[in-house]
Amino acid sequence: MNKVKIAVFASGSGSNFAALAEACKAERIPAEIVLMVTDKPDAFVSERANEIGIPIAAIRPRDFETKKAYEQAVLEALQEAQVEWLILAGYMRLIGPVLLEAYPERIINIHPSLLPSFPGKDAIGQAVAAGVKVTGVTVHLVDEGMDTGPILAQRAVDVIDGDAERTALAIHAVEHELYTTTLQNLFKK
Ligand code: GAR
Repeated sequence: MNKVKIAVFASGSGSNFAALAEACKAERIPAEIVLMVTDKPDAFVSERANEIGIPIAAIRPRDFETKKAYEQAVLEALQEAQVEWLILAGYMRLIGPVLLEAYPERIINIHPSLLPSFPGKDAIGQAVAAGVKVTGVTVHLVDEGMDTGPILAQRAVDVIDGDAERTALAIHAVEHELYTTTLQNLFKK
């Protein structure tokens, strides 16, 4: 099997990263995670990557004068690892021109809502506050906007009793499955 070399970008707990790592290892996704990129070196996702033995590029934006310089440092790490696709999994930062131009139509994001509803931070909290009964998960190609770009897959998830925590649990379970099947289909072509 010809494996696609991917980097997973994450800023937080990394449950999607762990699910993707598991799916790649089990060869459900024909890809290899050659790098985990984080802008938050202390985030729990780094512990997960260490445990699984996936190399980490922990690069802090505040160590650079400009966003361009930050992304150039990230790009160097990606090129050194020969990364072909960027997979965002809770990376809470807008992708800028340096990475967009280096990976045209090769950057994917997952977001916990039925986009274009509730983009940005705390999408599950936004859905609960809006009183909607159904929200969901979207996987999409990344462009220069915030959680915008062509949609690859979506799945609806019920809001449970107006409870953000319980709804988040249901959403995360769907995310792990939907991200796996979407990447499976994309990379097997
Ligand atoms: C996920 O729910 C992901 O969809 C969301 O961050 C969470 C990360 O969880 N991403 C966004 O909101 C992007 N705008 P994880 O660290 O456990 O994978």
